[in-house]
Amino acid sequence: MFPISYCVLPTILFLILVRKYRESKWGKCKNTVKLDGKIAIVTGANSGIGLEIAKELAGRNAQVILACRDLDKANQACEIIRTALSNASKALLVPMELDLASLYSIRDFCNRIKRRYKEINILINNAGVVFPNTKRVETKDGFEVHFGVNHLGHFYLTNLLLEQLSTLSGKKGRIVVVASSLHEKGEVNPNDLNALRASKKSNLYANSKLMNVYFAQELARRTEKRNVNVYACCPGWVYTGLFRHSVKWYHYFLITPVAFFFMRSPKQGAQTPVYCATEPDLENETGLLYRDCTHYNSRVIFYDNVASKLWEESENVINSVIKKE
Ligand SMILES: NC(=O)c1ccc[n+]([C@@H]2O[C@H](COP(=O)([O-])OP(=O)(O)OC[C@H]3O[C@@H](n4cnc5c(N)ncnc54)[C@H](OP(=O)(O)O)[C@@H]3O)[C@@H](O)[C@H]2O)c1
Ligand SMILES: *[C@@H]1O[C@H](CO)[C@@H](O)[C@H](O)[C@H]1NC(C)=O
Ligand SMILES: *[C@@H]1O[C@H](CO)[C@@H](O)[C@H](O)[C@H]1NC(C)=O
Repeated sequence: MFPISYCVLPTILFLILVRKYRESKWGKCKNTVKLDGKIAIVTGANSGIGLEIAKELAGRNAQVILACRDLDKANQACEIIRTALSNASKALLVPMELDLASLYSIRDFCNRIKRRYKEINILINNAGVVFPNTKRVETKDGFEVHFGVNHLGHFYLTNLLLEQLSTLSGKKGRIVVVASSLHEKGEVNPNDLNALRASKKSNLYANSKLMNVYFAQELARRTEKRNVNVYACCPGWVYTGLFRHSVKWYHYFLITPVAFFFMRSPKQGAQTPVYCATEPDLENETGLLYRDCTHYNSRVIFYDNVASKLWEESENVINSVIKKE
């Protein structure tokens, strides 16, 4: 009895200490900025990091629009948040339908937003998908899914809401682009955004996350004179359902120990996006990349001409689908 507890307990304590040490490096959004009267939109707010971001913003008294592909899931997320913040009033959480895999759904969502709100203060482009690259998956408009949802959908959404995000009343609007440090493994070929010529080796998810970072940089340049800031961030490696399409059941045996040492909870993953959305120290910053609630130095060499070409091509493909009225 005794010899076992002599080694088991210290081992468990040691493992917990290692975990705590790692957690201490992940950064926490320490400010207590309140968001009374502010309106925030969070895409993909029904699960994972997005749900925690929405909860955090609602806890700071913002009115949060949960923009989700499935309205039932959005309603359930509102329930979860309401239970967690028992004193938050009903009016603060607004479930809305938004399918980023359909340009018409995005346009429709933005029209509903514009009818209802004169101004939006915070937009969190959080939704994202990962599919294995064994077969091509496409959006409703026929775009490769990582490009279509992770980049193009948010590109269109953000552009349609730019007026609402940069009105002159009150503080600067903030746009937070949830990218990933995996962007460092990506490539952007503006002549083949739809990945028709991609090879088996292409990492289409990483490519879309690099597009997120380029988009944030180009958007910052294009909005220099407007009342809005743009922040790209990596939430860290977070234990969510993001990889559900590629993970097999037996992977969980491998993932558990790795998760224990390396993966953040969704709440921990939400810290950097919330930091970007609220931190007063960042009020004069735009177009930069953050991780662990501080600046992140990407290993990528960014080219301004790739950023502007990506922007133009993104506009072109949208115009090829959406007929001008
Ligand atoms: N987890 C990580 O380790 C990690 C690391 C770096 C970056 N990120 C980024 O963090 C963001 C959030 O991911 P997560 O880890 O929280 O994953 P998640 O739990 O799978 O959440 C993704 C969210 O996006 C939504 N979504 C997917 N396709 C959509 C569409 N067509 N229209 C609208 N919403 C859609 C999902 O809705 P459904 O529930 O309906 O599918 C879900 O709410 C992503 O942008 C991801 O790239 C994650
Ligand atoms: C809920 O309670 C917390 C602390 O108890 C407070 O900081 C927050 O402002 C309250 N939210 C609302 C909406 O009243
Ligand atoms: C941002 O710029 C304004 C105007 O120059 C200045 O008053 C303010 O102190 C700056 N804020 C920070 C956090 O640097």
